Amino acid sequence: MLEVKNLTFKVNENGIERSIVKNISFHVEDGEMLVITGPNGGGKSTLAKVLMGIEEADEGQIILDGEDITSYDINHRANAGIGFAFQQPPRFKGMTVSRLLSLAAGRQLKESECCGLLSRVGLCAQEYIRREVDSTLSGGEMKRIEIATVLAKRHKLCIFDEPEAGIDLWSFSMLIQQFEKIHNRKEESLILISHQERIIRMADRIMVIEDGKIGAVGSREEILPRLLDKGDSCTCMNR
Ligand SMILES: Nc1ncnc2c1ncn2[C@@H]1O[C@H](COP(=O)(O)OP(=O)(O)OP(=O)(O)O)[C@@H](O)[C@H]1O
Ligand SMILES: [Mg+2]
Repeated sequence: MLEVKNLTFKVNENGIERSIVKNISFHVEDGEMLVITGPNGGGKSTLAKVLMGIEEADEGQIILDGEDITSYDINHRANAGIGFAFQQPPRFKGMTVSRLLSLAAGRQLKESECCGLLSRVGLCAQEYIRREVDSTLSGGEMKRIEIATVLAKRHKLCIFDEPEAGIDLWSFSMLIQQFEKIHNRKEESLILISHQERIIRMADRIMVIEDGKIGAVGSREEILPRLLDKGDSCTCMNR
């Protein structure tokens, strides 16, 4: 279980301090899927980066299965069981796709294992395993390889930041199946950041982040009708 207590993250712009994440507290149960949505610039990706240790919290606590991981760096958090897929995945010139997948898995994967992972995200494996993770990969290819790196290992918590971004409809349906599989196994907790109605509908609970704060949080049954109501200020969903 993930417990987040009073998390705050600030940036300093030309000597002026600005809070991007403002005193946020929430939890994710074991095996639960929490979907975070909300307007652009609300602070969703920043919150995810603070959870993964890419950005350092200014205040608050992050507890994973009773272990306080607040002071852990990104590698230490990965070892503690958090997997993360960026909204805009980084590229690694000089590294092949199969090497990246092996690094993510924490062991040398066989070619057949790399192929299996890539086919789960709809990529024709033979064409990709020896490619470099550089700018020659398209945005959608890169995004799916990034998602495959998270699928390469069992985690306690997987965080996917807008997995749908730049993905074609066929690949999107494949990804939905992968998320459903993980969700149904109930062995890993999931945080999906998304604006997509199909993803939001999969949630056990939905959390809306607006202006760095929690605008609403609750069960899907409770929150979804509010998101579907076009008059609501937090209408931020793509349908
Ligand atoms: N390091 C930083 N320095 C200054 N501003 C930042 C920094 N990181 C994030 N921001 C700002 O914080 C706000 C929240 O950004 P964030 O990327 O978390 O939003 P988001 O909810 O993920 O939006 P989107 O739906 O567009 O992905 C934005 O206004 C962004 O410009
Ligand atoms: Mg974002």
